[in-house]
Amino acid sequence: MTRFFLSLLAMTTLPLSAYEPIYDESEIPPYELPPLLQFENGDPVENAEDWKKRRAELVALFTDQVYGKALLPKPKKLRFEIRTPESPFLENGATMTEVRILFSETEPKPFLDLLLLKPKSETPTPAILALNFSGNHSIHSSTQISLTDSWMRSRKEERESGAVVDDRATDKARGVKASRWPVEKILESGVALATFYYGDVDPDFDDGFENGIHPLAEKPGPGDWGSIAAWAWGASRARDYLEKESDLDQDRIAIMGHSRLGKTALWAGALDERFSLVISNNSGCGGAALSRRRFGERVSRINTSFPHWFCDNFLQYNEKESELPVDQHQLIALIAPRMVYVASAEEDRWADPKGEFLAAREASPAWELLEKNGIEAEEMPEIGKPAGDRVRYHIRAGKHDVTDYDWEQYLRAVKESGK
Ligand code: GCU
Repeated sequence: MTRFFLSLLAMTTLPLSAYEPIYDESEIPPYELPPLLQFENGDPVENAEDWKKRRAELVALFTDQVYGKALLPKPKKLRFEIRTPESPFLENGATMTEVRILFSETEPKPFLDLLLLKPKSETPTPAILALNFSGNHSIHSSTQISLTDSWMRSRKEERESGAVVDDRATDKARGVKASRWPVEKILESGVALATFYYGDVDPDFDDGFENGIHPLAEKPGPGDWGSIAAWAWGASRARDYLEKESDLDQDRIAIMGHSRLGKTALWAGALDERFSLVISNNSGCGGAALSRRRFGERVSRINTSFPHWFCDNFLQYNEKESELPVDQHQLIALIAPRMVYVASAEEDRWADPKGEFLAAREASPAWELLEKNGIEAEEMPEIGKPAGDRVRYHIRAGKHDVTDYDWEQYLRAVKESGK
């Protein structure tokens, strides 16, 4: 049985078409967040030593009840195949490298193709590893970038324009997502950009876990990984490669994702402490937004539309958010004392901007316990005015998207991240 049918069985609400999101603050039912600085047995969490143990408790709960356990360890022998050796890219001395990261010790599949763009610099630079939705070739029109040949999700427009034919990208797909990737600006600011297509790791549809990296692992049980945990696992393998790059400042490497990939960035960054900054762009339900607020998209809806994203245990919480042992402020807190950036867009009500702000603020006591500053403000900041220090938040004007404004804040943050 696929997760879609499992989720229908677990549904306690009406079908998708009848889903009524809450968009009015006065309709949010009263809720109480699970405490952050308190052990599951009720004891207080008082110092950095305690926090280590509390962190482990929370990681175990999120693993078992929300995202699922990764069924693959870090491969003993990860193979890196250089597909395009470092070569000049654009102007100003920037370079491009393409690396295939092979997950099996012997087979040519599965793999992840990493694109690495580095600015000219005499000293190691900070870097942002960002997952992409539509292939590495979609971020910029340069024909130097290889076309992805993995299965490609497509909408009607992409099929009509010929950007995707028979579930594969064509040359017409080059640069189709360029507005979300200000490559020149990133490189000019002295930051390197690494990116990979999330579908290399696990194609984003519910197929009972037959494709991507799943054939390398056993069949998932109810507490084992869904696609978000699989994509996060892939991000850590990309980080394994970045470790080998002496041109990068290893203390300042961020992970970034938008929407479902923002959820992925949070989970990857929570688990993998080599990321100095974790950026969640409009990640919403199952990402930075508090589940208990039930505003916009809620657990029952995400589990029905995307039953393969989370572990099957998460299905129990459809319309029962108050029974979840965790909420998303605790996920954000797992990043402490490193930096986290939560960003919302004013018109993106589906992702609950206020719920994203509140989660970031309610996570902040973890930083304070570790003698760092999170977000002190009680109220949401104004549009276009970032708030906070090691926990940072902004809401910008406009819709669910990634804009130059967002990137400008992230470029500044990655430079400030590190020890
Ligand atoms: C849908 C989904 C969101 C998700 C978004 C995306 O809107 O409901 O949870 O963040 O897709 O990833 O594009």
